[in-house]
Amino acid sequence: MPASVNQSTRLIYLAPLQGFTDFIYRKAYNEIFEGIDAFFIPYISVKNEGVLKKYEKEILPENNQQTRVIPQVLANNAIELLFLSKFLANKGYKEINLNLGCPYPMVTNRAMGAGLLPHPDKLHQILSSFFENSNLSLSVKLRAGLISPFEIEKIIPILNQFPLSEVIFHPRIARQLYEGEIIDSAFEFAKTNIKHRLVYNGDIFSPANFNERSQKFGGTNCWMLGRGVLMNPFLPAEIKGKNFSKDEKLLKLETFHKRVFELYTEKMDNDGNVLNKMKQFWIYFSYNFEKQAKSFKLIKKTNSLAQYQSAIKIVFWANF
Ligand SMILES: Cc1cc2nc3c(=O)[nH]c(=O)nc-3n(C[C@H](O)[C@H](O)[C@H](O)COP(=O)(O)O)c2cc1C
Repeated sequence: MPASVNQSTRLIYLAPLQGFTDFIYRKAYNEIFEGIDAFFIPYISVKNEGVLKKYEKEILPENNQQTRVIPQVLANNAIELLFLSKFLANKGYKEINLNLGCPYPMVTNRAMGAGLLPHPDKLHQILSSFFENSNLSLSVKLRAGLISPFEIEKIIPILNQFPLSEVIFHPRIARQLYEGEIIDSAFEFAKTNIKHRLVYNGDIFSPANFNERSQKFGGTNCWMLGRGVLMNPFLPAEIKGKNFSKDEKLLKLETFHKRVFELYTEKMDNDGNVLNKMKQFWIYFSYNFEKQAKSFKLIKKTNSLAQYQSAIKIVFWANF
């Protein structure tokens, strides 16, 4: 580890993952696991001049009692960004994050998410208007580009003109979605040229991955983890130097699963929705188990909560 990187001041953020890191996941996670310094709420956006009802529970302050929670917004112009920032300021938030990384054509074709990256002038106008009219702290989460990883070279000088709280960087282009090579040279470029605090994000699935990245990008001390946490919720604590026995892990995984199930049952209006949410949860949670594929398959084919509960018993029993 480079001398400049201090393990005790290392910060780890939970990435926003639409459909996965919802308020129930974040709440249960925070009750049972440790090591996350900030939780990001998956993006909200403007529709028909308002905020969709489905986002309300996500941002209600009582559903977000962790120490640092940052809502993320998706906007393609200054008016939308200001509208969302006022909406969030009214809920008591002091800090928001602008999504400049969403790779899906439905979003990028409307010049939102990574779709803003080929338009530095437009981004400049959005950020100018934000900082003239809002007192909130703003960070951005971005990729290297929509089509080319060199787009970042024209975006960074824009970001440097504004008092952003931090810049979270996932060094891929939109076309890659979440697969394929991480573009190390793009992160290196950002590290040299961005004057804000730079947060690395992408493909950290184990402490070994983390050590490799941290050696490569010496000096970076702030990390955002997404799928790696969903697949191994102990990862942030492990990166911070903690070890867990097999028994401890089993107990925490069981407690976590029980809590997530309980909260979905409490908040959802019917069993079918609870079952769907739990199946979705297991897409990544199944990676905590040696027999991942078999475990997931067993859960996926359940058709009722009674069947689901029987499958869970088998999965926990067969894997530990
Ligand atoms: C299913 C899914 C949903 C995502 N939703 C969001 C989102 O709402 N906002 C965002 O900025 N990134 C979103 N991302 C990207 C993640 O935040 C993160 O940048 C990406 O997964 C890479 O980090 P990882 O390799 O640690 O998972 C999503 C990714 C996935 C796979």
